[in-house]
Amino acid sequence: MKIGFIGLGNMGAAILEAVAKTGPHELLLSDHNQEKLAILADRFQGKATDNQEIASQAQVIFLGLKPHLVGPVLSELETSIAENPTAIWISMAAGVRLDQLASYLPAEQIIRMMPNTPVAIGQGMTTFATSKAENARLFEDLMAQSGQVKQLPENLMDAATAIAGCGPAFIYELIEAMTAAGIQNGLTAQVAQDLASQTVLGAAQMVLESDQHPAQLRDQVTSPGGSTIAGLVALTQAGFQAATIQGVNQALERTKELGQ
Ligand SMILES: NC(=O)c1ccc[n+]([C@@H]2O[C@H](COP(=O)([O-])OP(=O)(O)OC[C@H]3O[C@@H](n4cnc5c(N)ncnc54)[C@H](OP(=O)(O)O)[C@@H]3O)[C@@H](O)[C@H]2O)c1
Repeated sequence: MKIGFIGLGNMGAAILEAVAKTGPHELLLSDHNQEKLAILADRFQGKATDNQEIASQAQVIFLGLKPHLVGPVLSELETSIAENPTAIWISMAAGVRLDQLASYLPAEQIIRMMPNTPVAIGQGMTTFATSKAENARLFEDLMAQSGQVKQLPENLMDAATAIAGCGPAFIYELIEAMTAAGIQNGLTAQVAQDLASQTVLGAAQMVLESDQHPAQLRDQVTSPGGSTIAGLVALTQAGFQAATIQGVNQALERTKELGQ
């Protein structure tokens, strides 16, 4: 399949990494940064080209642009888009809705996706919305090596963005804070970081693999009068749960603004 990527920044390059594993594909790549483009073209055996060639030639096109650039770039590509009416366009832009994309692209040919950066290592959480069942199957096949993929009604995509798209940054913040506390208590930075990271990974895996609620799993770690409950009380007093909910809700508000 001929697959194009317009915009290969943090997210576009991570998707490229996942999609390339489902190949062999003919990859057409474009980005402002020519140096980065040459490195990616070399690494994934793709062709470094421009947006026009991708829009007019590729069968599937991933759009990895910042939300405010999606409209202007698609406007510039109007002629190339018209030359290639069967192409499937996949936008990863936060907050940009299918109806907005349909002002520039054939409505039946659009997928809105929300990935996160762990797709690069096959551990992503990607949601997507599309109006056509055929598009959904194609998308799931292309993302088969990226981690978990879930179709959602479009009205839930912003909420999914705030949890899974932004979420890795929230978890890195948690890992960094736990690491800092470990260093304060005498562990080396590397050991503290390894302990914090594996603990986050293992706890998340327990939630995914067991049929128990996170509160039940938490109770199994929390003995009466013990150290875990002392830590949990301090976290509650410091507003841990409220801060987390507020963080997700603020990310949701900003996602909605970005789509305006
Ligand atoms: N980062 C995440 O974790 C994440 C998660 C989910 C969704 N997203 C979405 O993914 C999209 C990209 O985000 P990002 O974090 O990857 O941003 P980014 O790192 O800034 O990547 C965007 C890339 O597009 C390039 N670009 C800009 N204008 C272009 C044009 N006209 N033609 C070709 N390339 C162009 C940029 O080059 P220059 O910088 O040189 O202009 C940059 O390399 C956003 O819409 C965001 O909402 C990101």
